[in-house]
Amino acid sequence: MLQCLEVSKTFGGVQALKRVDLSVNKNEIVGLVGPNGSGKSTILNIISGVYKPDSGKILFQNEDITKLPPYTICSKGIAKTSQTVQSFPDMTTFENVLTAVLFAAKKYGEKINAATKASELLDFVGLPKEKFTLPAQNLNVIELRRVQLARALATKPHLLLLDELLTGLTPKESDQAVELVKLINKQGITVLIVEHVMRVIMGLCNRVIVLHHGEKLCEGTPEKVCNNEEVVKVYLGKKFAFGED
Ligand SMILES: Nc1ncnc2c1ncn2[C@@H]1O[C@H](COP(=O)(O)OP(=O)(O)O)[C@@H](O)[C@H]1O
Ligand SMILES: [Mg+2]
Repeated sequence: MLQCLEVSKTFGGVQALKRVDLSVNKNEIVGLVGPNGSGKSTILNIISGVYKPDSGKILFQNEDITKLPPYTICSKGIAKTSQTVQSFPDMTTFENVLTAVLFAAKKYGEKINAATKASELLDFVGLPKEKFTLPAQNLNVIELRRVQLARALATKPHLLLLDELLTGLTPKESDQAVELVKLINKQGITVLIVEHVMRVIMGLCNRVIVLHHGEKLCEGTPEKVCNNEEVVKVYLGKKFAFGED
């Protein structure tokens, strides 16, 4: 479904990505992990068109999307939630999601009631009803992450990019969010998720890719990655290695 081919990106003197190859197959849930600053958000921003790579290519469903603007990439079926939560702060949460439903109106056909769809999506991501009519700026970061997820889903993506969606959640909330991501995946949406908590990665992902200093260090099943010596050394630390406590 998605292929990143030898993608490189520098910011000033910082090389954020060095010839990264990464692929995601239809219906997978792929985890993207690595230390802070290893380039995880940068690659998601390049896939979604927010940044352009210095070199390399992004293919989505066999089409070269490298040079397309974010709104075109979104129309083609890639949606993202950002690590730094973004919203239209003066609009209500409902209007935030409605905007995304209307953006994707063509995908829904003529019969859709956009307002009903927006409410259904906010219900689906678990935002309490009384928050629907509040301006987005009145919500806390965790609630805004839910709104972002609803907004991403509203665009009817084939591929969903989630950048630290679960950060800041309690273990119970995090378990609920894992179930939500599984449910989204069962509905036929492929997922690429950046996540730090290995328990979440283990419970959710078919495959894990580890970035380190902008390079791919390792990839494979969660078990394989957790047992990789290099990954344990640079990222996990011994105590997190699979099979130990
Ligand atoms: N917009 C930007 N301007 C300058 N430097 C950036 C920008 N975005 C990312 N970087 C740098 O690129 C590197 C990778 O960052 P990032 O992709 O955010 O890492 P991660 O998400 O893995 O923590 C870091 O050194 C970061 O400071
Ligand atoms: Mg990041």
